[in-house]
Amino acid sequence: MNNPELNLAGDTLVIIPTYNEADNIRDIVGRVRASVPHAHVLIADDGSPDGTGDIADSLSAADQCVHVLHRPGKAGLGAAYLAAFGWGLERGHGVLVEMDADGSHQPEQLPRLLTALDDGADLVLGSRWVPGGQVENWPKRREALSRGGNAYVRIALGLRQRDATGGFRAYRSDALERIDLAGVESQGYCFQVDLVRRVAAAGLQITEVPITFVERTKGESKMTGHIIFEALARVTLWAVQRQASKVTNLTRRLTRFAPQPSGDVSR
Ligand code: GDD
Ligand code: MN
Repeated sequence: MNNPELNLAGDTLVIIPTYNEADNIRDIVGRVRASVPHAHVLIADDGSPDGTGDIADSLSAADQCVHVLHRPGKAGLGAAYLAAFGWGLERGHGVLVEMDADGSHQPEQLPRLLTALDDGADLVLGSRWVPGGQVENWPKRREALSRGGNAYVRIALGLRQRDATGGFRAYRSDALERIDLAGVESQGYCFQVDLVRRVAAAGLQITEVPITFVERTKGESKMTGHIIFEALARVTLWAVQRQASKVTNLTRRLTRFAPQPSGDVSR
């Protein structure tokens, strides 16, 4: 099914990363196909031991708009998305969508993200933390982590977005081509923040639209302490680099006003 000859220029590609989502993958793919029938779907599976990849293959065999990218093993959300973006850009997709497999992101809300992209945004974030956005059945602990994480990101990186950590979003392919994807090192969920900061730094337009995030009812979250630590460490590093480049710029500007050496040392 993964035919690179297909002419998909301009088409939307919905990327669904999976690791052990056997109980969710059929349902989510069916809902995406029903909600945005013009879109293609790419399941990026990291060799899930629970057989998600085999189910994905059977979905792909039954529907020419469903594709599978098999990766050898669990290498993190960031790495899976980078490979999937490469797959989509190579085939000329004009819009690339990120969406979780577990039903937390509702495909029925995807048209509103795509409309905002049509209205001129380069990146549209499905946002839990703008007016109208909400979470359902999320443990208080997770809500606190998300709100706290987003507050830290806003302050440390000077971003305006309320939900830079979320994973329901739509990119124009041009936006992805204008940022340095090859330079992205984030492996886990901080990949999401990394891409927002890069798109913002490129001066592109980012719009947030409210979504309702529904906690999964099947399978388990893959969030770990390691993922949280990586996010904290990287965001802090980016914040330090940002301050350092501000100092460098200021120093450059000040040296322009410094008195010029006269050239005559005898006087
Ligand atoms: N291929 C691949 N490889 N997929 C992965 C990996 C991985 O290493 N880790 C997680 N996934 C997939 C899951 O199978 C799921 O489809 C999606 O990524 C999200 O994983 P969850 O484990 O369900 O995330 P969550 O519900 O705890 O986290 C939510 O909040 C995060 C912080 O706001 C999601 O919205 C994340 O996207 C978000 O970053
Ligand atoms: Mn989830």
